[in-house]
Amino acid sequence: MPAFLTSHEWVQHYRTNAVNQLSIPWEEGAALSPEETRAVIDSLQAWQLGETSEATHLLVATRRYASVVADPEFVEAMQLFIIEEQRHGELLGRFLDLSGASRIKRNWGDSVFRFLRSGLRSMEIWTTVVIVVETLALIYYQAVMQATRSSVLRTICRQILRDEVHHLQFQYEHLAVMHAGRGMFARRLTLWSQRILFFGTTLAVWTAHHGTLRAGGYPFRRFWRASWNRMEFHWRRMGLKSRIRTVQTKLGRTRIQRATASAKTPKQWHGGVSPSNR
Ligand SMILES: [Fe+2]
Ligand SMILES: [Fe+2]
Repeated sequence: MPAFLTSHEWVQHYRTNAVNQLSIPWEEGAALSPEETRAVIDSLQAWQLGETSEATHLLVATRRYASVVADPEFVEAMQLFIIEEQRHGELLGRFLDLSGASRIKRNWGDSVFRFLRSGLRSMEIWTTVVIVVETLALIYYQAVMQATRSSVLRTICRQILRDEVHHLQFQYEHLAVMHAGRGMFARRLTLWSQRILFFGTTLAVWTAHHGTLRAGGYPFRRFWRASWNRMEFHWRRMGLKSRIRTVQTKLGRTRIQRATASAKTPKQWHGGVSPSNR
């Protein structure tokens, strides 16, 4: 019966993680072959832009949610999460500089997502969008890592993958709490709306980044299967694929009961880390 981390523990996690970063061998240069450059640079420019969001609207939703659930530290945890995302943007930006490519300011996929997110007020929808994108990011960065021999880029991908596994845990724990009080019908409806969102986003990521994904060993069928397998795991952790109950313990932790009996760990944890071996 796993316990959810409290917001205080998430703050500690993000602070510790900020000073335990992998050392990136910048002195080696970008070291991309012409073939690797063709495979990854355009795509990395778009992801770099996506990782640099100011997340102003997310913070508004976070403050409102934190006051409703009387958890002020959740705001700080979310701010540290956003800082970590911006650090990913900066790492990718520095790599683009090193390779002589520009940091772009606009991209159609990013514009669509920014527009959609700007209208969101609900913490639940925000968190759902984040978890969908980050699930696909796990597959994407794994592919980039496999598409290049550049030590700098591979180390950046390893660092991002390490961080993202925790980001996903941070998000699915909160969604599990939000979903916990719902009846069977409401949970089914939630699951199906998430499936539709995930279906569309997965197709969009494939359309925009298939060159990189293929170069990294993810032809369409493998990419599709890996993405859905990973998302299935998150749905179980969110309590959408099994009946769950959350309870408060004397320590003030939220515990989840009967939620994870069927929540098997996916065969391959990207980046070699899982939330359980933090
Ligand atoms: Fe990220
Ligand atoms: Fe993330």
